[in-house]
Amino acid sequence: MYNQNCQHLWYGFHAVTMQGGHYNVIEDAAIAVDEGVISWVGSFADFSGQADQGTDLGGGWVTPGLIDCHSHIVFGANRSREFELRLQGASYEEIARSGGGIANTVKSTRQASEAELMKRAELLLLDLMADGVTTLEIKSGYGLDLENESKMLRVARRLGEQWPVDIVTTCLAAHALPPEFNDADTYIDYLCDTLLPVIAEQKLADAVDGFCEKIAFSPEQIKRYLQTAAELNLPLKLHAEQLSALGGSRMAAELGALSVDHLEYATEDDVKAMAEHGTVAVILPGAYYMLKETQQPPIVLLRENNVPMALASDANPGSSPVRSLRLMMNMACSLFGFTPEEALAGVTCHAARALGLHDSHGTLTPGKQADFVCWNIESPAELSYWLGGRLNKARVKRGVRRDI
Ligand code: NIG
Ligand code: FE
Repeated sequence: MYNQNCQHLWYGFHAVTMQGGHYNVIEDAAIAVDEGVISWVGSFADFSGQADQGTDLGGGWVTPGLIDCHSHIVFGANRSREFELRLQGASYEEIARSGGGIANTVKSTRQASEAELMKRAELLLLDLMADGVTTLEIKSGYGLDLENESKMLRVARRLGEQWPVDIVTTCLAAHALPPEFNDADTYIDYLCDTLLPVIAEQKLADAVDGFCEKIAFSPEQIKRYLQTAAELNLPLKLHAEQLSALGGSRMAAELGALSVDHLEYATEDDVKAMAEHGTVAVILPGAYYMLKETQQPPIVLLRENNVPMALASDANPGSSPVRSLRLMMNMACSLFGFTPEEALAGVTCHAARALGLHDSHGTLTPGKQADFVCWNIESPAELSYWLGGRLNKARVKRGVRRDI
């Protein structure tokens, strides 16, 4: 029984709280909200207080608002031309080495104004939000100098001010070598000595990320960069083991990274390090699928070692032009053997942990922000089952209904 009064009581649905990574089904549920925060969740029959306002959502299932913990939605132009080249047999690495790939997006992003970047990013943001996303991480990484990385991060911050979504910004300056540098070590020096201290001082980034790969930066270079970020009190993340096994994920876990992302080539040692240091594994099925990768991330090992597995869109113009996080849930199940329950945990509570937001986001529990979505479905597995379509019927952000 709950006999406290509340500002707003939401009812007329079944709910999954996702606490501890499990559904924890509550049939005929109700959620009490005060000041945008959940004050109680339980069975409607157990609510005996007074509510200033009540909303009957009229059926369906409520989940925590979806959290997309890895995206690159701020960019100058799309790369559908490279998609055509890949269909004709060119590989992602070949395209990157011949000046396309990330370098191509760097060019268009540097040329674009903030207003233009904003307009383009909004199209992706609105699609993700319409499909249930209430929190989104956005990386820089297509500017690769102070001026343009700052520009990208400002655009990301502004998106969060203009739309009902929480935006977490990540500085991904160590994404690729910019054309004006011909030596990766010198560029890393610039990032450590100049760029990161300014980004930290201006509070433009909530975290720092890099790309540890043969076509990007070595584990030694990335370690220096991440250590500098840690000294500036910025949380760490890393793109690692996407195309080859370099041990970047282990190194980042040992530095206390919040998450390591991609992980197709991660080894057992990498997984053990993630388990030991509480690092989240972020799985990105969109890039795996688009690049026709055949090496699967070590899902069974991650599961056996109790490493929390988050799932994200990796929405970007090159390797993962994804506009639906729910589609990633389906791919994680169909391609990697996730259960639908794991897939939902991957876009709620584990995604919150990957962003360091687990105290305020990711589950329907008292004390957390009242971000939730009501879906027009008869069982939670349908969230992973349907490919595309419009499933959500109500979207509540900080206790206020904000349908998209
Ligand atoms: O997460 N892996 C590196 N970075 C992005 C790809 C960016 C791009 O191709 O533009 C990724 O897949
Ligand atoms: Fe990425």
